[in-house]
Amino acid sequence: MTMISSLAGTNNHGQDSSYFLGWEEYEKNPYHEIDNPDGMIQMGLAENQLCFDLLESWLANNPEPASFTKNGKSCFRDLALFQDYHGLPEFKKAFVNYMSMLRGNKVTFDPSKLVLTAGATSANETLIFCLANPGEALLLPTPYYPGFDRDLKWRTGAEIVPIKCSSYNGYKITKSNLEEAYNSAQRQGLKVKGVLVTNPSNPLGTTLTKEEITLLLTFVSTKSIHLISDEIYAGTVFTGSGFMSVMEALMDKKWANNKELIERVHIVSSLSKDLGLPGFRVGAIYSNDPLVVSAATKMSSFGLISAQTQYLLAGLLSDVKFMNYYIGQNQSRLKSRHSKLVSGLKKAGINCLDSNSGLFCWVDLKHLLNAPTFEAEIELWKEIVYNVKLNISPGSSCHSAEPGWFRVCFANMSDDTLDLAMQRIKDYIDVKFNKNSHHAKRNARRMRSLSKWVFRLSFDGDKVPEER
Ligand SMILES: Cc1ncc(COP(=O)(O)O)c(C=O)c1O
Repeated sequence: MTMISSLAGTNNHGQDSSYFLGWEEYEKNPYHEIDNPDGMIQMGLAENQLCFDLLESWLANNPEPASFTKNGKSCFRDLALFQDYHGLPEFKKAFVNYMSMLRGNKVTFDPSKLVLTAGATSANETLIFCLANPGEALLLPTPYYPGFDRDLKWRTGAEIVPIKCSSYNGYKITKSNLEEAYNSAQRQGLKVKGVLVTNPSNPLGTTLTKEEITLLLTFVSTKSIHLISDEIYAGTVFTGSGFMSVMEALMDKKWANNKELIERVHIVSSLSKDLGLPGFRVGAIYSNDPLVVSAATKMSSFGLISAQTQYLLAGLLSDVKFMNYYIGQNQSRLKSRHSKLVSGLKKAGINCLDSNSGLFCWVDLKHLLNAPTFEAEIELWKEIVYNVKLNISPGSSCHSAEPGWFRVCFANMSDDTLDLAMQRIKDYIDVKFNKNSHHAKRNARRMRSLSKWVFRLSFDGDKVPEER
């Protein structure tokens, strides 16, 4: 038997949650239009496949970045040898410009405050490693991205204390739920080092209001703790002006001279969601604290972005005209996908939380639960995974405080697959509830003829009694 370290062997990383188990189930029987039309449809993966055609045509028109050449000459050797943990300067410059574009050019970012990491996963872990000692706590609004248990806690030894948000007020962050979480951490003997929010939110698909951001800034300022804003979904906001970055809020004259607070605010960024490139592993920390930037830069050695990826994306991101076009297209395609899902679910009598961003909806299935419990939520989840053949994520995997909510992704499949997924949900609901529906009638007819047949078999002789 191999003995692994206690840290490696620990079980509190959340990898065993239904969120990840659903992916495993999907892998066993993945849907395919032709090869496996009865297979499972993956709706538990926050991937964005809506704009690959645009990226592919850019690559076809701009062959240099992907072929290790610059002005017609090979730069293969430079890239092969490059290993500087500060990153390629032209990439960092293009990246911060892109970050500004996503925020309506209302904020400018300084490349010297940017630390490149292999995705937001690595950015989040590195930041927590820099800010918290083992046993210290971060406050996170619930429901939150299931990967955070792994990313924030596993190797750093930090703890997460939930800020319990609830559907009755649209999951708002309030002074009282912040204070409650802070006091709960203290009661557990945990020193609070910061608050971490995702804006826009995964799994809610909503953005924080200016009031909420102000509240958060006031709170962290009063308590002298950090604020981390994971803005990985910044480019998925599909309603014009719905998103405000915490860095924009900090420019308000109320805070603009508060150096101490400014240095306690950090954001996390990535190209995994808006550009749909999770496989390229591109993320970043942006921090106003030079000590954090310096420590995180050294630590980024554990998860660098390869030089050819940086080179390729420097070419893409610095094509400002293309990127502007891309951002607009991405938003409008996400918007129409989102409304397709919302209206499709509505036809099946299912409501979603109002949302304006993200690659998913937060869907209310409370009326399908056998009881208002998390056990019933998992029971329903299993039914949906195994019988309806849709992998969606139960709210409990996101630490939701109320049973019956599910996260349903809409941007990782084709229009036709989304139509089929909604047909499956509708059929399921019809059969389960709606006796007047076409399917329920057909089912009832089947049941009637079956019982007639059984009755006939059990009836001695060929005289069938009149049906009543
Ligand atoms: C809020 C949030 N942060 C971080 C990540 C990790 O992203 P990356 O692929 O850039 O590591 C995800 C991915 O789903 C996410 O939803």
